[in-house]
Amino acid sequence: MTIAVIGTGNMGSGFAKLFASTGEKVVIGARDPAKASRLAQDIGGSAEGGGIAAAVKLADVILVAVWCQHFEESIRAAGDLSGKVIIDISNPVTEDFKSLRLGHTSSAAEELQKLAPHAKIVKAFNTVFAQLLPSEARSGRVRVQTFVAADDETAKKTVFDLAAKGGFEPVDSGPLSNARFLEPMGELNIHFGFFLGQGTGVAPAWVKAAA
Ligand SMILES: NC(=O)c1ccc[n+]([C@@H]2O[C@H](COP(=O)([O-])OP(=O)(O)OC[C@H]3O[C@@H](n4cnc5c(N)ncnc54)[C@H](OP(=O)(O)O)[C@@H]3O)[C@@H](O)[C@H]2O)c1
Repeated sequence: MTIAVIGTGNMGSGFAKLFASTGEKVVIGARDPAKASRLAQDIGGSAEGGGIAAAVKLADVILVAVWCQHFEESIRAAGDLSGKVIIDISNPVTEDFKSLRLGHTSSAAEELQKLAPHAKIVKAFNTVFAQLLPSEARSGRVRVQTFVAADDETAKKTVFDLAAKGGFEPVDSGPLSNARFLEPMGELNIHFGFFLGQGTGVAPAWVKAAA
């Protein structure tokens, strides 16, 4: 499978490395193509880097690793997204990271779907800190969960399989509109990690207390 990773920041570089390590073909796209090329060179193997449209064209699955304020610009640069699976990992946080800029009646994932109406948006990984993307960082007793919400069941299954291959425990979180609940979970995780002093090794988990 060819995965395009859009963005070369904390999450973009983390996912590009993770997917390359699990044997996927990774193409990195950035508004500055030279940054994407440098990251691909660092990763080595078959990883490639360049502009956003070029990366998207080659890919079956696209992981968007930019802040949601920049979705519009990134989607405009992406070209034709019809039928593509797009993974939205974002938390629509305010400048100070302490709150969300949208919610209740929409979510960043649903806003992304509006920008790319013919793509299959899947919400995932928004409750996972960048520091937990390398598999060596997840060597504890429990598998880190990722909550996966989508309207298209085939697209959801694709992301489930990718997450499991990367060593995460995917949790079916229902339709895309449930991103309205997953994004506040991401925000709570930021509070635990940064403002309540637990650090970026934490992640939320849904436990089954009874059969
Ligand atoms: N960091 C985490 O632990 C974490 C955890 C869960 C979810 N997330 C989500 O992951 C996404 C990315 O977070 P991050 O920490 O990887 O951010 P980051 O390190 O700041 O990287 C952001 C990336 O977006 C790119 N970008 C594209 N269009 C842009 C524009 N118009 N203006 C500015 N930047 C633009 C930047 O490119 P340039 O290099 O050219 O500036 C950069 O590669 C966010 O939606 C965030 O909510 C992050």
